[in-house]
Amino acid sequence: MTQNESPSGKSRDKRRLVAKRDGFFSKIGNQGIALTYDDVRLTTGYASILPDNINIESKFSKNVGLKIPIVSAAMDTVTEAQMAIEIAKLGGIGVIHKNFSSQEQAAQVAKVKYHLNGLIEKPICFDENTSIGEILASRQEKDFGFHSFLIIDKDHRLTGILTKNDFDFCEDFSLRAKQVMTKRVITASPGIGLREAYRVMKENKKKAIPLVNNAGKVAGLYTFSDVKRILSGDSKSFNVDKNGRLRVAAAIGVYDDAFERVEKLVREKIDLVIIDTAHGDSKGVIETLKIIKKHYDVDVLAGNISEPESAERLCRAGADGLKIGQGPGSICTTRIIAGIGKPQVSAIYECSKVASKFGVPVCADGGLKFSGDIPIAIGAGAHSVMMGNMLAGTKESPGEFRFHQGVQYKVYRGMGSLGAMESNKGSRERYNQGKDDLVPEGMEGMVPYKGPLKEVIHQYIGGLKRGMGYVGAGTIEDLRTIAQFVRITEAGKAESHPHDIVITREAPNYQKQQ
Ligand code: XMP
Repeated sequence: MTQNESPSGKSRDKRRLVAKRDGFFSKIGNQGIALTYDDVRLTTGYASILPDNINIESKFSKNVGLKIPIVSAAMDTVTEAQMAIEIAKLGGIGVIHKNFSSQEQAAQVAKVKYHLNGLIEKPICFDENTSIGEILASRQEKDFGFHSFLIIDKDHRLTGILTKNDFDFCEDFSLRAKQVMTKRVITASPGIGLREAYRVMKENKKKAIPLVNNAGKVAGLYTFSDVKRILSGDSKSFNVDKNGRLRVAAAIGVYDDAFERVEKLVREKIDLVIIDTAHGDSKGVIETLKIIKKHYDVDVLAGNISEPESAERLCRAGADGLKIGQGPGSICTTRIIAGIGKPQVSAIYECSKVASKFGVPVCADGGLKFSGDIPIAIGAGAHSVMMGNMLAGTKESPGEFRFHQGVQYKVYRGMGSLGAMESNKGSRERYNQGKDDLVPEGMEGMVPYKGPLKEVIHQYIGGLKRGMGYVGAGTIEDLRTIAQFVRITEAGKAESHPHDIVITREAPNYQKQQ
């Protein structure tokens, strides 16, 4: 073992690298300059780790982990339940936007939370006198994908279960649940574990097993397919909470909007809420943050900010995570119409430096164009990246499809665009504006269709891991610590992209910028 490979040698080396990077950014900062993605590249370092052993687990907030450091943006053309489900299955997390009413937003969260379950603590129950038609209408309205519903009497005691078979063989939807349900139900006591529940279901060939307490009341539910998936390890890469449910976050505003939403979101077991504003270093955000932290046991991420003093204020107010980015986004016009903002890589570095002292993770929000921007954001100090544009063209985004000159696109718009603000209170509040005389801070447009999220994320993660390999970082924390930057010129940037070639075949991870 050489001196540098010994534990004390390694930590000395890390300290030296941290100091070197601090020196790079302070030299730039002292000249009054701030840098963004296209201004820098990471330098290569000695690598002793194999790509397969690279670990990219990270944190979105103090108590919410990530298996991959990618978050889908709280935008109405990026993240609704379908995107949130898929990205959580890939190890990241989605943030449900707030252009929904509080009820609609909570219903979207419920869809994610009910999608995959270890133990369902509060299964959907219907009174035994409800008609089959009413139950089917409710299932359709809430867009639940499952078919097993527990049936209870007026004293909330379990009397039966409605299964897919019961629905399929029922020809008269005016019949009451008690006339159609399966009455002989195999139940278990509330303390039963995942493995035992699996054994009981398998032995009895049952797709669901309700848990019932001594008073005969429903205390939970296991379903066969989900338990099987968890036990077989198929869900190892999923980002799940302690009960095996997919993780999901949601955006909220300030004051009453926030309180109304949080109340409903917490009921649906939201993992984290984000006070999502264009100017996070404000009285409204700080007061709202303090009130939520006082009354609810939920992680709160606050943003957006780009200055270290703002990071300090939000950390002191109790933020569990910070979101960095004022105007870097592909659809943002804030920097142009208001003249404010700080190029993103410097903003990430400066804010994360302060947040680290409080143990608060930071998320780099907006402005990423290529997978190579992910290791750059993390190398500058971010724990995760939030993407709008880079995910808006996937199958799972809610944006509409458009055809333009024979090419398939999906609609992508800023939350501060005219269209989003005209039609939604959530958008107007993000930019602190009333209904009349709107001053937009974003654009409406479209992005090329990219296909399923899974394939897109595969390329992004591939790029991140390649970057970590070149730097010599085995973990996200390593990358945050040892990454070194070099500033590049316009010529360096041109050299970085393909040049002097007519591209004849598109690569899945490189599209020429328009
Ligand atoms: P990307 O670059 O991934 O950026 O498309 C997404 C992020 O941009 C922010 N956002 C906006 N910022 N005006 C802005 O100034 C807008 O209309 C707007 N809409 C979204 C937001 O933080 C998002 O995550």
